[in-house]
Amino acid sequence: METQTLKILIVDDDDDDAYLTEDLVREGLTDLPPDIDRARSHEEALQLLAKTTYDLCMLDYRLGEGTGIGLLRAVRSQKITIPIILLTGQGDQEIAVEAMKSCANDYIVKSKLSCELLNKSIWHAIRLYREAERRQNTEKMLKKSHQELTLAHEELQASLAKLKTAQNQILRSEKLAGIGRLAAGVCHEILNPLNIISGHTQALQMERQEDQSLLEDLGSVTEEIHRIEKIISGLLKFSRKGDVELKQTDINQELESVLSIVEREMSCEGIEVIKEFASDLPKLLLDNDRMRQVYLNIINNAKFAMAGGGKLTVRTQVLETKSFSRTEKSGNSPSNPEKDDILRISFIDTGPGIKKEHLGKIFDPFFTTKPEDKGTGLGLSVCYSIVEKHGGFLEAESDGQHGTTFLIDLPLNQNQDNESPTLSETSKTGGI
Ligand SMILES: Nc1ncnc2c1ncn2[C@@H]1O[C@H](COP(=O)(O)OP(=O)(O)OP(=O)(O)O)[C@@H](O)[C@H]1O
Ligand SMILES: [Mg+2]
Repeated sequence: METQTLKILIVDDDDDDAYLTEDLVREGLTDLPPDIDRARSHEEALQLLAKTTYDLCMLDYRLGEGTGIGLLRAVRSQKITIPIILLTGQGDQEIAVEAMKSCANDYIVKSKLSCELLNKSIWHAIRLYREAERRQNTEKMLKKSHQELTLAHEELQASLAKLKTAQNQILRSEKLAGIGRLAAGVCHEILNPLNIISGHTQALQMERQEDQSLLEDLGSVTEEIHRIEKIISGLLKFSRKGDVELKQTDINQELESVLSIVEREMSCEGIEVIKEFASDLPKLLLDNDRMRQVYLNIINNAKFAMAGGGKLTVRTQVLETKSFSRTEKSGNSPSNPEKDDILRISFIDTGPGIKKEHLGKIFDPFFTTKPEDKGTGLGLSVCYSIVEKHGGFLEAESDGQHGTTFLIDLPLNQNQDNESPTLSETSKTGGI
């Protein structure tokens, strides 16, 4: 106990009994002199207990018209948890059981009352009370620690997920960069002999115009040469470090103009185009020729996926750092963007989606599920490297059943992004 005395309340309507109890308590508690209050009735006891903090309370079982047990229950119902000892003249087992059930800490038969017994009972009750209090505190602390641990675990999971995404991005970038270097080399090796073959084929076509069957064969050879050229040009786009023209761009306007090219055709195929553009997007420095390839690639893929009709939603928005975990804020245009603020362009289609086992491969060069004459599988790998070279990130989401979403995230604060091209000038020609 922090106090130098033991604050005790004796509740007894019989003066003689109360004095006797008080004397015995004083006699027994030699180490810690008690400070004793007395209540004669149920009501007086409740009043005193409400305004004073006692270390212990001793209740007489016989209390006017009621019983000590009634008072005990009333005290406990008011969430007063101090140790309580019940005193009674009747050595009845049932009362003892009742008292303990009603949350008394001990029970003493008055006829056996002695200062030793009282001392023992008081300290026993106090010890029990303190243990219960300690247990409760420990439980509270445990609960708090558990909550903190759960929170930390959730944060860790979120960090792990972010780390995994970053790791995948790095792996993908490294893989694509490797393939890009290889592709550039192979393309040049192939182009030379291809030019020679093409030259000979043209010469033969001119020289042997009368040989119809040969001309047909040469026609097939020319077709295949064109196919190889298309693949090579795609590969070169993917690996190219050519000149770029960076311009301050109103992305909404750019998307409008790209969509105007495809909208009519899409409408003929039963595809509705919905534009959800944020009204005050900040301008970004972009190489528009290349970015247009990205938009068109993604739109064409969506069109192909929705051959039977559907809906393509094109959305633009700003995501602030604080809301980066996909709490989206449409139409926001921070004048002072944070380092991680991004401009997001979403293409959401209602096609059949991308199967889970394909989702990790769609950015790989030559991955395609289209028939041979319909796709080379280079579209998305080119898109990925273009967006990446702008310091951004291209991502696909699909549950494999209900449509696909492509997200292009472009950094708003291009000046702070060291990995993106030097974008601080209004226009620049250089390699990205
Ligand atoms: N919106 C989409 N819905 C369903 N699948 C898609 C979608 N976009 C891409 N895909 C899948 O990703 C694959 C790769 O796409 P990518 O654009 O790289 O190549 P492609 O369209 O097959 O051929 P290319 O673009 O070279 O003509 C597609 O073949 C298709 O399986
Ligand atoms: Mg494509």
